[in-house]
Amino acid sequence: MIIQHLEAENYRNIRRCVIIPQNGINIIYGKNAQGKTNLLEAVWLFTGGRSFRGAKDADLILQGEAGAKLSLEFFSGERVQTAEITIENGRRSAALNGIPQKNASGLVGKFFSVIFSPEHIALVREGPSQRRDFIDAALCQIKPGYAALLARYNRTLNQRNTLLKDIPRHAELMDTLEIWDEKLASYGEAVVLGRMDYIHKIREPVKEIYAGISQHTETIDLTYQKSAENLKTALKASRREDVALGHTSVGPHRDDMDISIDQRCARSFGSQGQKRSAVLALKLAEAEMLYRQTGERPVILLDDVMSELDSGRQDYLLNHLNSCQVFITCCEPGAIKQLREGALFEMDSGTLIKK
Ligand SMILES: Nc1ncnc2c1ncn2[C@@H]1O[C@H](COP(=O)(O)OP(=O)(O)OP(=O)(O)O)[C@@H](O)[C@H]1O
Ligand SMILES: [Mg+2]
Repeated sequence: MIIQHLEAENYRNIRRCVIIPQNGINIIYGKNAQGKTNLLEAVWLFTGGRSFRGAKDADLILQGEAGAKLSLEFFSGERVQTAEITIENGRRSAALNGIPQKNASGLVGKFFSVIFSPEHIALVREGPSQRRDFIDAALCQIKPGYAALLARYNRTLNQRNTLLKDIPRHAELMDTLEIWDEKLASYGEAVVLGRMDYIHKIREPVKEIYAGISQHTETIDLTYQKSAENLKTALKASRREDVALGHTSVGPHRDDMDISIDQRCARSFGSQGQKRSAVLALKLAEAEMLYRQTGERPVILLDDVMSELDSGRQDYLLNHLNSCQVFITCCEPGAIKQLREGALFEMDSGTLIKK
């Protein structure tokens, strides 16, 4: 997957910008608050997902303008393809090879990318939902039907929760739980299977990459933590408790992925550097999985990552990335000596200048 041409108009602080990147490493440098992350975010949107910064679509439009437009030309599936994203009236729409899609998620599975930004440390540091989201997002990119399955699971879960809240006032509804539990268990088991399979596959690359990043001084491991062994039985067993709580206490929405470094839980015991390295290993392994599943190497977006790594770790990272197209943002490109081969672009107040 290679970006050949990207154009952004009225996007965040970027009034208009064109970038023709090179196949290998592209460095976007500049002072703080110039629009470097904004540009990576624009690339990311072509995966069909939402902003990785959790921004509302309307906030992506240059303030005072009615709409934003992004156009991409990329090489994938042995041909040049185009994609467009328009953000207007608070919503995102997309076209692929000139064909309008039902919505922006129509681009999912067409353009692949993996993003690492400082906020992603939350993946190790914060609660289980961050880790579930990581696995789910990765699966949505590679497993056809997974996004729809997850949506069905969540819809059924919401319906069961509504029912649980109604039961105290309408005791006769207790019997209808059976039908919901049946449905929820079958979607839920499929979600769990998908996630466990993904962790099983990603585990080896994560271990290998982490060993590389830590220069073979530390080991990492991943384990899926189920909230229930048999979902159907567990749902049945927890009915009374769930009615009292007003929500469903077991299921994949309560599962977690345990990340341990040297056999200790990374969330509770990991240092800052270990957590950052763990997230990098997860992200690069995600890229490797995308490649294995699709035969396409995703575009790698590294926001502000190099400045926090020592030169040994930088070296490993850059060597590991040499077969992908990479976009790296930083403030001072000179400080990163291995970056000499990258194409250089300076971002200055939303204007990109090729160096
Ligand atoms: N919708 C918008 N309209 C206009 N400006 C915006 C919009 N959204 C964000 N900005 C501006 O974009 C700038 C931030 O851009 P960005 O986050 O890309 O900076 P950066 O170059 O990555 O900086 P840093 O090095 O600090 O990470 C801020 O000045 C912010 O006010
Ligand atoms: Mg930034």
